[in-house]
Amino acid sequence: MTTEHTPTATEPADQQPASLYDMIGGAGKLRELVDRFYDLMDLEPQFSVIRALHPTTLDGSRDKFYWFLSGWSGGPDLYIEQFGHPRLRARHLPYAIASPERDQWLRCMALAMQDVGMEEGLQEHLLTSFFQTADWMRNKADIQP
Ligand code: HEM
Repeated sequence: MTTEHTPTATEPADQQPASLYDMIGGAGKLRELVDRFYDLMDLEPQFSVIRALHPTTLDGSRDKFYWFLSGWSGGPDLYIEQFGHPRLRARHLPYAIASPERDQWLRCMALAMQDVGMEEGLQEHLLTSFFQTADWMRNKADIQP
């Protein structure tokens, strides 16, 4: 079976397809996104439930999430180099995550992507991927009405 990639008009034939990391804008833009994400979480009352799950200072969370996203998007594997496999679901088990927490997280990320001026198609693509990961992170049953 051939898995050859057909170059598109915006992609010269002698280059690899752009990684998500490059499409986002590399290290600087990724860090900007992460910082905006945690600034919003810190400032906006609508994210108070997920803010309360995090430590008082968000400095460590910012670094770890940035390192993770770097490798996850096809850039340098900064998280794995330091901590090994992310084991994201296991690492989130200490925090009670049901649908409302998942949705707050996704809303916070959607706003952060808008605020840093990310191209709309890329926002949608990333949000779909984040939804899958965030949904898989749920570890608490939703309260039935
Ligand atoms: C579903 C809603 C989510 C909630 C409520 C949540 C909450 C948290 C909390 C409370 C921490 C600990 C922060 C700290 O120790 O500083 C954390 C760490 C982390 N989260 Fe999430 N998270 C969610 C979804 C996600 C998603 C979707 C991703 C990836 C795309 C992600 C990636 C990470 C990473 C990489 C860490 C650092 C892990 C480590 O301790 O090494 N989280 N998260």
